Amino acid sequence: MYRTHTCGELRLSHIGQTVTLSGWVQRRRDFGGMSFIDLRDRYGLTQLAFNEGVDPAMLEIARSAQREFVVQAVGKVVERENKNGNLATGEVEILVSEFTVLNRAKTPPFTIESETDGGEELRMKYRYLDIRRAPVREKLLLRNRINMMVRTYLNDLGFADVETPFLIKSTPEGARDFVVPSRVHHGQFYALPQSPQTFKQLLMVAGMDRYYQIVRCFRDEDLRADRQPEFTQIDCEMAFVEQEDIIETFEGLLKHVLREVHHYEVGSIPRITYDEAMRLYGNDKPDIRFGMTFVELNDRVKGSGFAVFDNAELVVGIKVEGGAGYTRKQLDGLTDYVKRPQLGMSGLIWMKVDDQGQATSSVNKFFDEAALAGWAEAFDAMAGDLVLVLAGNANKTRKALSELRMHLAQELGLRKSDVFAPLWVLDFPLLEWDEESGRWFAMHHPFTSPKPEDIPLIDSDPGAVRANAYDLVLNGNEIGGGSIRIHDRSLQQRMFDLLGFSKEEALEQFGFLMNAFEFGAPPHGGIAFGFDRLVALMGGDEVIRDYIAFPKNNAGRDVMIDAPSHIQMTQLTELSLGITPKEQA
Ligand code: AMO
Repeated sequence: MYRTHTCGELRLSHIGQTVTLSGWVQRRRDFGGMSFIDLRDRYGLTQLAFNEGVDPAMLEIARSAQREFVVQAVGKVVERENKNGNLATGEVEILVSEFTVLNRAKTPPFTIESETDGGEELRMKYRYLDIRRAPVREKLLLRNRINMMVRTYLNDLGFADVETPFLIKSTPEGARDFVVPSRVHHGQFYALPQSPQTFKQLLMVAGMDRYYQIVRCFRDEDLRADRQPEFTQIDCEMAFVEQEDIIETFEGLLKHVLREVHHYEVGSIPRITYDEAMRLYGNDKPDIRFGMTFVELNDRVKGSGFAVFDNAELVVGIKVEGGAGYTRKQLDGLTDYVKRPQLGMSGLIWMKVDDQGQATSSVNKFFDEAALAGWAEAFDAMAGDLVLVLAGNANKTRKALSELRMHLAQELGLRKSDVFAPLWVLDFPLLEWDEESGRWFAMHHPFTSPKPEDIPLIDSDPGAVRANAYDLVLNGNEIGGGSIRIHDRSLQQRMFDLLGFSKEEALEQFGFLMNAFEFGAPPHGGIAFGFDRLVALMGGDEVIRDYIAFPKNNAGRDVMIDAPSHIQMTQLTELSLGITPKEQA
């Protein structure tokens, strides 16, 4: 038997018992004729003690055990003299009577303790060593716990887990596909699913009624902190539902997870429309843990002779409470921030209200005391507040102000990781216009249903059509999104027309779905949560990488197994991808 207990288990109540433990040597300390080893496994750390007078042969073996050696110890549980309050097992230690080295280890490339000296790349290369560290291990275990919570919640509501295929058909909509060449069907390719969207809809046509899957999805897109090329969704679909049913069901799921993980109660989750989100936060995934909502000044500032405002489509600002103390240098820093090429603003206008309630601004030349008092009123700015204003093209200005708002919130410590502020964003536009390709794209995906009352606008004003689509946002992160679907063949056909598909293209790519709609498709809708994002946020982070056991690096590589990699010419040839021997000759 390798062990009777784990390294996280022993307490005062075990005193006097003889136990066997197995694990990894985290540290060894030698003093004269005594040695101590901190023995680690997934469950914790336990101190092994080799006291004065132990068998010298055994002490010698113990002293040969270096960091990360795998060892086994038999001994008696005793009360520790120097108790360690930071350790769950810190009141006891094992007086070792038998000691075995089960396997040796090379010196690890970085320290395997909570605080490590290993850089990101090195830790990823030796990810199996990184996972031995408590903080990384705890993240993966949190992921497992949330996975179980989600399954329990959905199972209790009658959702059935149904697997859908990974080798599917490539479609041009959405992000880029990862493709897999077929050996048997020369020159043909499968694609890995970006999501099981069409399959879950087909399961509704199939009468499965309530489906879910915690499923891997694949998207060949640029990486960011909250994006991986392969990531996991909690993918769900329900038949005979309206938007309100979905919102209630999945609001319940988020509340369940918050309650179980953090004992955190949120009341009814607020809802805003996409238009409001853009107007008030310049962003369709606003962080509402803090205020700083946008205030538009067009009506107050136009025609003042200040060209920057007069020529702008939008003049809009935010209030920084208590920010009047910002120095010239700090304000210059914020100006540089919005002038970066990514935001591309021409400048930043500020106004301060001093302790006497007197307003001054960076544009005093154009705006007198009365005008500035008007600004202060618009922002509800009090003595000590700072107002920051941007002007320009509406979309660009909103985006820049949104970034500035988040930047300031970060600086001011307003993005508290122990506060959870979810929000539903509703009524997304059905379509968005792409200047480059000169065509409409589906904002969610082509299967999203328009709001019935907006259907008449489809031909006259497609951009004004709102979708029955919703996103769930948590602390400024999109953690889920979904919609009520089209379940009518002719409407689906119309949608493809609008997206510029010819009849043949639509049939070729999505004929299977449109045909299914002719065999009794029930009204249905669903949602998918980004599981990695949800777990990371529950762990108080926004970077999802550490919550994935074996993630890709920033360049989309797995540096541990070294993928992607070249394959052999024989494989290429077999897959009709290589140069054939004839061509080579
Ligand atoms: P959507 O594309 O919005 O919807 O994806 C759902 C959720 O998945 C997460 N997500 C990602 N997480 C990590 N890395 C990525 N690259 C990544 N891309 C998306 C986000 C997002 O909210 N089929 C629809 C859902 C539906 O309509 O039911 C879909 O996939 O948290």
